[in-house]
Formats: sequence, C-alpha cells, structure tokens
Amino acid sequence: MRVEGHQPQQDSHTSAGWLTGRMHNVTLLRLAFSTAALRCPSIRARQHSLTTGSLGIMATGDSSRHKSKNITWTRGKITAQERAHQNQHAGCVVWLTGLSASGKSTIATELERELFSHGKHAWVLDGDNVRHGLCSDLGFSPEDRKENIRRIGEVAKLFAEAGFVCITAFISPYRSDRDLARRIAPDGKFIEVYVNVPLAVCEQRDPKGLYAKARAGEITEFTGISAPYEPPAKPELELRTDKMTPAECVAVILERLKQVPW
Ligand SMILES: Nc1ncnc2c1ncn2[C@@H]1O[C@H](COP(=O)(O)OP(=O)(O)O)[C@@H](O)[C@H]1O
Ligand SMILES: [Mg+2]
Repeated sequence: MRVEGHQPQQDSHTSAGWLTGRMHNVTLLRLAFSTAALRCPSIRARQHSLTTGSLGIMATGDSSRHKSKNITWTRGKITAQERAHQNQHAGCVVWLTGLSASGKSTIATELERELFSHGKHAWVLDGDNVRHGLCSDLGFSPEDRKENIRRIGEVAKLFAEAGFVCITAFISPYRSDRDLARRIAPDGKFIEVYVNVPLAVCEQRDPKGLYAKARAGEITEFTGISAPYEPPAKPELELRTDKMTPAECVAVILERLKQVPW
C-alpha cells in the first residue's frame, strides 16, 4: 500500500522482484501438486482451489459445510496482482475488534475517508449496518455472533479480492471467530486491530446509551457486562483509544498498510 507523500522504500515485499518470486513459487507448487494429485483426492481438491481462485488467492471455503454438491468454481481472468497494479495498492482486510464504544466505527470511517482522499479503494463493513440487511436474521447469542462474523469474514474476503481495503468494525468478541475470518481472508492480507480501552472508559463514553441499558438489565448478552470479550492474543496492531486521538489511530493503521504485499 502506498499513500501519496509517504512513499515507502521499495522492499522485497512490494518490488516486482517479489512478484516474480511469488509467481515462481506458485508454479513450483502447482508442479509438485500435479504429480501427487493423480494419486490423492485431498490433494486434487487442494489443487482445484489453487487453480480456480484468482492467482495467489485460494478458495478457503470449508467444503464440509456445502449443502449443494453440483457446484463448480468459475475462474476469473484478472489476477490479484493485475488488480493491485491497476489500483496501485493491494486489497486487504483491516479487522477492528473491541468493546462497544471502544472506537471501531469512528476509526473505520476516518480511515476510509483518509484512504479515499488518497485515491485508494476502501469500504467499511459496520456491525450495526449489516444487522439491518445481510445479518438481520441474527441476534446476539454465541451461535448467532459466530454466524455473523463468518458472513462478514466471507464478505470482507470478497471485498479484498475485489481490490478494496475492507475495514470491518465489529465487536467480534470470540477469538475463534476472528481466527476464522483470518483464515477466510487472502493469505497475509488480514490486519487484526485491537481497539483497546478499559471497560470503564467505554461505559463513560456510552455514545448510544447501551451500557446504561445493559446495567439496568434492559439488554441481555451485552459484551463486557453480561457476555465475554476475548482480547486478541497476537493482533497486528493495538490501539489505546483512551490515549490516542482518532487521527493518531488512523495514522498508525496507514503506516501498517504500507507493509501489505502486492
Ligand atoms: N482515539 C479514539 N478513537 C476512536 N474513538 C474515540 C477516540 N477517542 C474518543 N473516541 C470516542 O469514542 C466513541 C467511540 O464510539 P464508536 O466509534 O461508535 O465505537 P464502537 O464502534 O467501537 O462501538 C466516540 O464517541 C468517539 O468520539
Ligand atoms: Mg460501531
């Protein structure tokens, strides 16, 4: 990712040399698969996912979940690298996680604005917004939260493959669900950002009055009060929004985006 006025040094990740190396690796991988695949069905399936997705991006769907049997992947004619070169940046997922009122939506929309103003393709998927449509059938039970994050993980992957910096703003309280979103996303294109602030600060902010309602028992299964939040073990970034301004948080993410390979 390159942001005008802040051009990073060309390094092995962003240079044409890196691209060539990666293409070479993919070719070698295909060669190795082609002989083994003749014998092993699981490798044949893996080979299929390698050759049917955009080059360098694997189809990660869990085939055991598929209800339909007669489905075939249609392969596109544009590679991820071609898209990135045209856009002058890679598609990726910036996954913001944290308590309600920690600052996810504020940072997400500021970041999107900043990227947009530099000619980058960016899109925000916001928790409350998707619950109006795509996930309007889901509540806040652990099962529904899991399905909510799975769907968002899949949509975020599609945006990333389409060349967008897809910024997601979801509490996403369970580590396993976030890990699933990471696995779904294109390899190396998932930046988990822990929007970290003490619960007491969130309660004090309470921009939507939700903590007051949760304390009063009017909302059940509220993260931090009556439902758990599992902090990320190894996020790519951690932002203390009680110690940094939104603009400072955005600047940190923009700096990290420069390391995303394309
Ligand atoms: N550094 C910061 N980053 C993000 N939000 C901040 C920051 N400092 C204060 N805030 C305030 O905290 C609140 C966060 O609300 P919101 O972004 O809706 O949180 P969330 O989407 O995580 O529920 C806003 O009122 C925002 O102005
Ligand atoms: Mg929000």
